[in-house]
Amino acid sequence: MNRIDVHNHFLPATDDGCASIADSLECIRAFVTLGYNRFFLTPHTGALDYGDITPALTRTRVEQLRKTLAAENIHVELRPGGELRLSPDILKLKDLQRIPTYGHNTNYCLADIWELTWPAWADACIDWLQNHGLTVILAHPERMAAVRRKPALMDQLAQRGVLFQGNLGPLGGSESKEVLALSERFLKDGRYFMLGSDCHRPDHLFNRACGLRHAVTLVGSDEVNRLTITNPSLLWI
Ligand SMILES: [Fe+2]
Repeated sequence: MNRIDVHNHFLPATDDGCASIADSLECIRAFVTLGYNRFFLTPHTGALDYGDITPALTRTRVEQLRKTLAAENIHVELRPGGELRLSPDILKLKDLQRIPTYGHNTNYCLADIWELTWPAWADACIDWLQNHGLTVILAHPERMAAVRRKPALMDQLAQRGVLFQGNLGPLGGSESKEVLALSERFLKDGRYFMLGSDCHRPDHLFNRACGLRHAVTLVGSDEVNRLTITNPSLLWI
């Protein structure tokens, strides 16, 4: 199928994702059976808890994982990425060295934020990233309380050029009915630029497979292919 997973935590012992190489191998093998053969590895970065996960560290660990997969005869391609936590600290950066873009060679950046209401500094962060030439892709807006409280936020962000990455988890029933309904609506309304697994570890695998299947049921395989192959391919350079 040639799918690309644009969001996961498969780098072993790096963030709150896979704790071991065995877990990483189990997850990647399972995704291969779902039609994935390319993976951006997107560990958390930028948040206080993960401040030591720099793009340079991610690249080193991706290279280590690549060697392990080759030794295991698992034929997939890997690229470094990152899930950047928006914070006022971004505004103090002098350059893009700490910003993990897709592939660490593109102008697309995956970002998340968990504030209950959308703070003014988040707008400033998006301005900062865009002024440095990046397109911001907001991870899993359906899971964000700020979006659920104020759905018009999606329009405001879209008007500013922000793209949206939906998660397979809520579509597979991992969260509340409210989050499921929102993710279904966003998917049907064509709000998402791409779908990612945000899979952390093997106990997420069944749910993510259900999410992918549910997405196909809702909008058809052509649209799911657009969100897991065509659009992610724009980032795979
Ligand atoms: Fe994530």
